Amino acid sequence: MKSKHKYAVFVSGRGSNLNAMFDAVRDGRLSYKPDLVLTDNPSATALEYARENGVETCWVDPAVNKGRRAFAEAAIKELKARGIDTICLAGFMRIVDKALVDAFPGRIINIHPALLPAFPGLDAQRQALEAGVAESGCTVHFVDEGVDTGAVIMQARVPVEKGDTVETLSKRILEQEHRIYPEAVQALMDDRI
Ligand code: GRF
Repeated sequence: MKSKHKYAVFVSGRGSNLNAMFDAVRDGRLSYKPDLVLTDNPSATALEYARENGVETCWVDPAVNKGRRAFAEAAIKELKARGIDTICLAGFMRIVDKALVDAFPGRIINIHPALLPAFPGLDAQRQALEAGVAESGCTVHFVDEGVDTGAVIMQARVPVEKGDTVETLSKRILEQEHRIYPEAVQALMDDRI
């Protein structure tokens, strides 16, 4: 099946969610490979997954494009030049500027390692453990100008187990991230959300 959309994945680091998208493409859960992987960090491991899978990469240098607005404008230029209309943030460590949100209305999504609206921002798994909740999980949501505040698309619950550490809880949440993010990307590319 073809999509009328083209998508970019924005990454800053490890790239396990990007890699999970490639896995999902291989086993048929996701019909579309990313058209571009864009980064603010040229040494992100994520870029290796892109290259291994033959996907174009693009580095927008934050030292050249200083500040949120300039970074967004440079990114918009790269995306528009390639006819890309959809963005999936996957471990992208910058707050998205309003200019980007306005340029791609309803077409930017993110994955967050907590059950939003609980525990937005950094260290969500630690926040959950410190709050003593019985369950946490992950959320795919639309991106607006706030930090992890956009409308929720999909969630997966993960029980907190006795003796859980940030590492053990993060690992179980990550398994669920890798399952639901490709599913959400598929739905977005097929105009089902
Ligand atoms: C994930 O936990 C994701 O939920 C959060 O950042 C982390 C990125 O991990 N937004 P990776 O780079 O996809 O491995």
